This record gives sequence, C-alpha cells and structure tokens, in this order.
Amino acid sequence: MIVLGIETSCDETSAALVDGASVLSNIVATQTVHQEYGGVVPEFASRAHIRQLLPVIRLALGKAGRSWSDIQGLAVTHGPGLAGSLLIGLSTCKGLALALDLPWIGINHLEGHLMAVSASRAAPEYPHIALLVSGGHTLLVLAEAPLSYRIIGRTLDDAAGEAFDKVAKTLGLGYPGGPAIERSASAGRDQAVSFPRALLKGDDLNFSFSGLKTAVLYHVRSRPPHQVENEIADISASFQRAVVDVLVAKSIRALEKHDIRVLLLAGGVARNTALRKALADKCQRSGIDFFVPPAELCTDNAAMIARAGYERLIRGQRSNHDLDAAPDLSLDGTENE
Ligand code: KG4
Ligand code: ZN
Repeated sequence: MIVLGIETSCDETSAALVDGASVLSNIVATQTVHQEYGGVVPEFASRAHIRQLLPVIRLALGKAGRSWSDIQGLAVTHGPGLAGSLLIGLSTCKGLALALDLPWIGINHLEGHLMAVSASRAAPEYPHIALLVSGGHTLLVLAEAPLSYRIIGRTLDDAAGEAFDKVAKTLGLGYPGGPAIERSASAGRDQAVSFPRALLKGDDLNFSFSGLKTAVLYHVRSRPPHQVENEIADISASFQRAVVDVLVAKSIRALEKHDIRVLLLAGGVARNTALRKALADKCQRSGIDFFVPPAELCTDNAAMIARAGYERLIRGQRSNHDLDAAPDLSLDGTENE
C-alpha cells in the first residue's frame, strides 16, 4: 500500500511516500523565517506551510517517481502541535482525500516519532520502553503491543529539546539550540561546570529540566561577559552531559522497573550524538537491545507519519471529515497533556 504522509505540526513542512515499510521519498522543508526570532512564530509557520505544502507534496511524488494515481492512502498529523499549522496539513489531506477518493487517517505526531525507527529497519519487539525526547515532549513510554502506549514518565516542566533551545539562547548560540549546543560542546570539557541533575533519587520516572536551565543562566550571569565567551564550549558540554546523564539514568530505571530488555530512543533530541552514544554503550553493557532511527528521521518528518498511517490503514482504521486539529493531543489519545 502506497501512503502519502503529511506533517505540518510545527516549523517543518514535510511530505513523504512510503510503500509499506519502505520509504520512497521524504521531503522536509525547514522554515528559516523563525531563526531571527530565536523560536517558532506560529503565524509565520502557518503561512509558510500554506506556501510550501503543495510544492513539497509534488516534490515527494517526483522523487518517488510516482503520480497522484499511485497513492492508495493518506496520513496526516492532526496533533499535538500549533493549531494553525496543524490545520493546513489536515485541510490539505481532507481535500486530497475527497478529490482522489482515498482512505485517510489522522496520526498522533508522537506516535509518528515512535514509528520513525521502523521506516529504516525492523521495528523493536514488544514489549519495549521508548524514550521520546523532542522540543515539546519528554516521555518514557511503555509499548506493550503495536499501536498501544502507556506513559510511565514525563517532564514536569521543560522538555529536553526546549531546555537545549533555551540554554542556546542564553549562550547566544541561535535557534534551533540542540544542534548549536552539540557543535559547541564538541570543543568543550563536560566536567568543567557542575550542573544539577534533577529527580535522580528514588524510583521516580519523571523529569525536570527547568532547574538545570536556570542553573546555566545563573552561571552565565555570575561571570563577566568576556569570561563567558571563553567558556561557552565548556558550559555547552557540561549542560549536554547533565541532560544525557538524566536521560540515560531514567531510561535504565524504566527498563529495570518493568523488567524489559528493549529500548527505543526517538524524537528530535535523539539526533544528539552524545545521547545516542551514551545510551548505546549503556545498553550494550547491560545486554539491552537498543533502537534509534537514523538522524534524519529523528526530527520532524512526514515519513514517520506515513509509516504510522500505513500501520493503521492496513488495520482498516479510517478518520472522518469531522476530525479536528488537536493541539494538546496526548500519546494515549486524550487531550490533557
Ligand atoms: O522532534 P522535533 O523535530 O520537534 C518536536 O516535535 O518538538 O524536535 C525538535 C527539538 C528541538 O528542541 C531541537 O533543539 C532538538 O530537537 N534537537 C536536538 C538536536 N537536534 C535537534 N537536541 C540536541 N541535540 C541535537 N543534535
Ligand atoms: Zn516532533
């Protein structure tokens, strides 16, 4: 079954074609308009999606060497995300479904992230624990069976990616912060500054990154600017180490607590090489099977949405035209996150 996936939940306009488990094309147009504002401006994001989405879909068809008539199903992100941005993708998908007379399904963006890995290799076996770290979410998920998710840990304040973005702003490194901090950290010493690691005691599976973010801010404010300038790489490396330490410790705790031996890492922050390496090493030493998508499928993309859509469409699941954008959609389908 050839599925066209559409992703417009935030600041990437993306369209992809999958044929079952294999990705035929995956076009991601990253909106650069937000860079000068240091974060995503929702109104600009919606306008850019309107301009870019149809050309991006045509590019995805062209790259796959297919035409409109080859598409057998449609999948679109309907939440969580920015309301205006979600509506562009959702309305476009509904229009295409009517015009081409195709079945379609609304996909939870977070499920897309968890499915990204199976767009590139065999899916992790069940049950497994997933660590989903993105700009908007930091979740530990117990996946007991395909398409069924139980949230067992979440951030109490900032998401991991949000912490990267905010700390990068404090350090004057630009947006998006994750890649900028990673680049800067590569020249720094990760033990140079001792930053806090929150909620490590007991058997808590929740996260908190706002204290760490504030600790970086106070550290920077307590020093003269010229000294901070020389220390940026060390601060970046020490901050990144603190985030990685917590993410690794909590993932291992979740695996032990639920007696599970398979770990999946997903979401934009999963692009981070230090995190990928730390988790891979720890899992190898502990005899745990470790799965992570290739870097380009970690950040927002439509291949992961098409892949999730395929799994649901082949099970006969369909959405109706009254499906609305759900900006606060939770992974378990409720709207309370
Ligand atoms: O999954 P994603 O593309 O969008 C959301 O659904 O939020 O994740 C974007 C987040 C941003 O916060 C970005 O700074 C972070 O992922 N990110 C990284 C890296 N690349 C992207 N964080 C750390 N290291 C990276 N290399
Ligand atoms: Zn995402």
